Amino acid sequence: MNKDSKIYIAGHRGMVGGAIKRALEKRGYTIIVTRTSAELDLRKQESVAEFFALEKPEYVFLAAAKVGGIMANNTYRAEFLYDNLMIEANIIHSAYQQGVKKLMFLGSSCIYPKMAPQPLKEDYLLTGPLEPTNEPYAIAKIAGIKLCEAYRDQYGCNFISVMPTNLYGYGDNYHPQNSHVLPALIRRFHEAKEKGEPEVVVWGTGTPRREFLFADDLADACLFLMEHYNERELVNIGTGEDIPIGELAALVSKVTAYKGAISFDTTRPDGTPRKLMDVSKLHQLGWQHFTLLEEGVQAAYQDFKQHYLR
Ligand SMILES: NC(=O)c1ccc[n+]([C@@H]2O[C@H](COP(=O)([O-])OP(=O)(O)OC[C@H]3O[C@@H](n4cnc5c(N)ncnc54)[C@H](OP(=O)(O)O)[C@@H]3O)[C@@H](O)[C@H]2O)c1
Repeated sequence: MNKDSKIYIAGHRGMVGGAIKRALEKRGYTIIVTRTSAELDLRKQESVAEFFALEKPEYVFLAAAKVGGIMANNTYRAEFLYDNLMIEANIIHSAYQQGVKKLMFLGSSCIYPKMAPQPLKEDYLLTGPLEPTNEPYAIAKIAGIKLCEAYRDQYGCNFISVMPTNLYGYGDNYHPQNSHVLPALIRRFHEAKEKGEPEVVVWGTGTPRREFLFADDLADACLFLMEHYNERELVNIGTGEDIPIGELAALVSKVTAYKGAISFDTTRPDGTPRKLMDVSKLHQLGWQHFTLLEEGVQAAYQDFKQHYLR
């Protein structure tokens, strides 16, 4: 990618697309093409084809998707499958038709089988059944990976796939029902502090371990791989470190300056005991994360107070 290459970020208003846009601008890339979903509904094949024919981007970051927590994934199963399949199929096919030099498809760690050994290696893909609650989303993401592979195999397109771990950061989703665990905890602890509640109850035993990556670190990794990685195989992006949910709750309590107690509702399900990415491939390629979890949670909490609460 040159500084004057034409780069399209699909989903630039999202947490990930926004971080990629900031990272590109910071490094001096000047020709960045964007459209909101109101301007261009990526589920519409003809509109996407017209947009690509008009703009002819040279590089594409595919960070547009229908995204949500377990509840949203399980409730809107048809939408998670249909929207994501349409978005990625339309973009990948148009990118091929218009001769895009390179495309990066962003998937997710939920593509791996529910019972896969930990940490999750790239080659565990399609080795067992998926977690049922987000199966439609995972199937759509797997289809995206397979589209990139197939367009490479048949047409020689340089389309690559990356699988980020759980993300958090600027512009995250703090919706009371549809958010992921870390933004949900930030909101819960902040509200408990504001209302002077004596206790925050966290679902489950607090022992399941999860990995979290700051979205701006992810964007840095995406740019690194866009510059240096041209292979068919997908690449995991994460920290390679995980933390028990109980410790995460304590960290969020500290960052939000909540003074009450934390308790665990053990009648609630825990989910998978551990979910950690194997990032040895990424490390071997020469990239490592740099934002510490506490630092990142501080930044996210400031952003939540400044932007979301308004
Ligand atoms: N968040 C995570 O923890 C996480 C973890 C792993 C992987 N990922 C992956 O990273 C990517 C981006 O996630 P995110 O967290 O940034 O999501 P997000 O904040 O919800 O942003 C998604 C973006 O997609 C766009 N979009 C959705 N439907 C569209 C449509 N029909 N037409 C056009 N644009 C549409 C939206 O555009 P508008 O704003 O214009 O409506 C939005 O900006 C996804 O592929 C996701 O799987 C995320």
